[in-house]
Amino acid sequence: EKITLSVIKADIGGFVGHSSVHPELLQEAEKTLGQRGQDLLEDFKVTCVGDDINLVMTHRKGIDNEQIHKLAWETFLSCTRIARRLKLYGAGQDLLSDAFSGNIKGMGPGVAEMEFEERPSEPIIVFMADKTEPGAWNLPLYKMFADPFNTIGLVIDPKMHEGFKFEVLDLIENKKVTFSCPEELYDLLVFLGAANRYAVKAVYRKNGEIAAVSSTQRMNLMAGRYVGKDDPVLIVRCQNGLPAVGEALEPFSNPHLVAGWMRGSHFGPIIPVSQKESTPTRFDGPPRVIALGFQLAEGKLIGPQDLFADVAYDRARQKALEIADYLRQLGPFEPHRLPLDEMEYTSMPQVMEKLKDRFN
Ligand code: 13P
Ligand code: 13P
Ligand code: MG
Ligand code: MG
Ligand code: MG
Ligand code: MG
Repeated sequence: EKITLSVIKADIGGFVGHSSVHPELLQEAEKTLGQRGQDLLEDFKVTCVGDDINLVMTHRKGIDNEQIHKLAWETFLSCTRIARRLKLYGAGQDLLSDAFSGNIKGMGPGVAEMEFEERPSEPIIVFMADKTEPGAWNLPLYKMFADPFNTIGLVIDPKMHEGFKFEVLDLIENKKVTFSCPEELYDLLVFLGAANRYAVKAVYRKNGEIAAVSSTQRMNLMAGRYVGKDDPVLIVRCQNGLPAVGEALEPFSNPHLVAGWMRGSHFGPIIPVSQKESTPTRFDGPPRVIALGFQLAEGKLIGPQDLFADVAYDRARQKALEIADYLRQLGPFEPHRLPLDEMEYTSMPQVMEKLKDRFN
């Protein structure tokens, strides 16, 4: 029987500001999943990065399952009651609807799910980022599954040598397209390089087996406003025909620039950090990513192992801090601040209105 891994996440109130999740919310999520998920879930772990709660769940119901999505929705709702009582910042911010309608997608929370046959050994990494957007995974996914300078398995592992397929979502027009690599590498990169519009939804082996899936979802329909740019998660299966754990982590050793950070309106380096260090406070950031490793055993989540706690990422952290210092000196100027049409906040319409008689 196949197993499904579902990671569903939401920001339902920050402690303090947008920096972390209050421990009472984590306890409540733990309690709710434990009680209401008893007959539904094989296993679960409640975790967080920055101000986002992440529910990592295994079950036998398949992806897009109404009962599982409802369980996550109700868990976030009961946490929101506590967030309101504690007057946490932006209580309930990611719950965009009043009533659950069968699938949590499009209702605010982020979702990454995959169903597969559990292998004799099933190492999995759940990446979770705060203060950035789903396009942040484009560069690392390209490196993991298509760049032989990152992933030597593409060259020397006969089971990886034929390459992988990338499913890419156009976040504006809500269309998707699949590229077969390495044959279509250059076509793929035309899109992946524009990470604010095109984002990798999933990666497959050439035989169709799922390898990676992200929480990328269309942004235009959600609440009729620009809210899809949100703190994303990514699941990557590893080893035995897939990237080794170290190959999946390696792209984060050189911090790339992602959109997000302060007010969702700035470019900044994404810092790989341990769970303990995943509390973004400097200028509400810089953006950060944690990587939790699990071994699945008959659906049980053995772990997590806090993979970026390794001292070998210290230099990446140092480099990210230097890049952050440099970018911060640019203040309100691009390319630190995002272009006008990509900012989550803007005062442009009001300022234009005030000045309209003086513009000629
Ligand atoms: P081990 O020899 O430690 O199992 O490592 C194999 C491997 O895949 C390393 O990437
Ligand atoms: P979050 O998306 O993590 O809530 O951050 C929003 C923000 O405005 C940070 O400055
Ligand atoms: Mg958010
Ligand atoms: Mg927040
Ligand atoms: Mg957040
Ligand atoms: Mg955000």
